[in-house]
Amino acid sequence: MSRIFITGDTHCDYDWEKINTTNFPEQKNLTKDDYVIIAGDFGGIWGLDKTDRYIIKTYEKRSFTTLFVDGNHENHDALDQYPVEIWNGGKIHRISDTVIHLMRGQVFEIGGKTIFTMGGAQSSDKIYRKEGISWWAREMPSDDEYDEAVKNLGAHGFKVNYVVTHCAPEDYAYSAGFDDVARRANRLTAFFSSLITEHDIAYDGWYFGHYHRDKDFEKLHCLYHRIVEIT
Ligand SMILES: [Fe+2]
Repeated sequence: MSRIFITGDTHCDYDWEKINTTNFPEQKNLTKDDYVIIAGDFGGIWGLDKTDRYIIKTYEKRSFTTLFVDGNHENHDALDQYPVEIWNGGKIHRISDTVIHLMRGQVFEIGGKTIFTMGGAQSSDKIYRKEGISWWAREMPSDDEYDEAVKNLGAHGFKVNYVVTHCAPEDYAYSAGFDDVARRANRLTAFFSSLITEHDIAYDGWYFGHYHRDKDFEKLHCLYHRIVEIT
């Protein structure tokens, strides 16, 4: 049976300490049939050939398969260049053999669990960034991606085991005291709230990154430094 772990933003190699062998010793017993999901801001596809190759090669050498949803700090245009495949019931960009981007609005069956994924987020540091170099408009979903999310969740009766996103439903972002307006209240955080209030989505756990802290809100979990196993 596959094991599945989830952690928060890795930001290229800047926040890798949580998946080193000291902080994540479980990896010594994992195989490529086991998964680590990064809840956005993977940062390993930046359109910089040498750096991207180093990041992908390093993940390839790990004992597990790496899955990620996209965050806001990704080169979305570079990600969109990868061919789309269907994998375990949903659309992916296959970055390499065992590094996989879980696309937006998809429901996957992984290790016997259904997992809804929807990356993207609004940047709070946009004014310090340059479009096409360090910021991309595709950080937020398109109309089609929102529609696809509703369609795919609808096909599962709005019931999944886990949800993995980069940002949080708006109400939770508020209650968490994330006082940065760009990150807490926008079309995507409102959409996630609507999944709860309008569609009554059922899930065992909802995991997100983005806010760079480790905090739990009943079944919702903000991840940064910690890595958790879902069972
Ligand atoms: Fe981040």
